[in-house]
Amino acid sequence: GRVAVIMGGTSAEREISLRSGEAVLNGLQGAGVDAFAIDLGSSGASPVAQLLDSEFDRAFLILHGRGGEDGTIQGVLEMMGKPYTGSGVAASALGMDKLRCKQLWQGAGLPTPAFAVLDEYADLAEVEAVLGYPLMVKPAHEGSSIGMSKVRNRSELETAFAAAREYDRCVLAEQWVNGPEFTIALLNGQALPVIRLETPHDFYDFDAKYSAGDTHYHFETGLDVEQTARLQQLALRAFDVAGCRAWGRVDAMMDADGHFQLLEVNTAPGMTDHSLVPMAAARAGIDFEQLVVNILATAEG
Ligand code: DAL
Ligand code: MG
Repeated sequence: GRVAVIMGGTSAEREISLRSGEAVLNGLQGAGVDAFAIDLGSSGASPVAQLLDSEFDRAFLILHGRGGEDGTIQGVLEMMGKPYTGSGVAASALGMDKLRCKQLWQGAGLPTPAFAVLDEYADLAEVEAVLGYPLMVKPAHEGSSIGMSKVRNRSELETAFAAAREYDRCVLAEQWVNGPEFTIALLNGQALPVIRLETPHDFYDFDAKYSAGDTHYHFETGLDVEQTARLQQLALRAFDVAGCRAWGRVDAMMDADGHFQLLEVNTAPGMTDHSLVPMAAARAGIDFEQLVVNILATAEG
């Protein structure tokens, strides 16, 4: 049947989603799939009206951020009876909520950096005492490092909180973890090869992710076989505990004691030419067309 590649949307990650979506569409068409694009949010019509107006049998969801990666579109497609790729409603919502995801992981005994919720009632002196500097400030529901800052003192903390608040009512302060940073792509219950990220930026920020030529991606991770297996296992458990399925990507760091700390899960991760899932898949011998065909197969009625 016909496959709608649903991309764009109205989140802060719209442009990234269009890049991911274009690549996915080309990949599917290259593999002989009858696929077409739906750019949600491109017309004045509501996303629901746009979906109802389109004829398709299955959806390949490659929306990033709120209004697409967060369970809302998944809910609409459930109601329409259209199979879609990736995680379901609840897991998508959790994946888009760093606070609840961290709480869930803590409850399951999985490691994630210490954190505090920042709101107008937050006692900043206590946040500083508990987390120390530097620390990370993050909007709870953003992707691609949008609205995130590394801060070193009170005045930077206040500025960063105000900046993150522009994106989200819910803001987290998170203990700084020195790294290195790793990412683990997951596909159908398997962990793909681990990638180590190296950036001269303060952290792996938006620019380091999509523009800068100075970010390096290493399959020589510096981890031994046992550590690699542990990290892959941790990523699979983190994904599973959140109820995620099909495909995604878990980001993690190693702390100063050599322990892995989970940062977040992405249920519709980037598929651009800078993106990590296609890179990891290629390393595993899965080319881009094969990858998108495998992901499409997760859209089951
Ligand atoms: N949120 C971006 C698209 C990613 O995780 O790849
Ligand atoms: Mg993310």
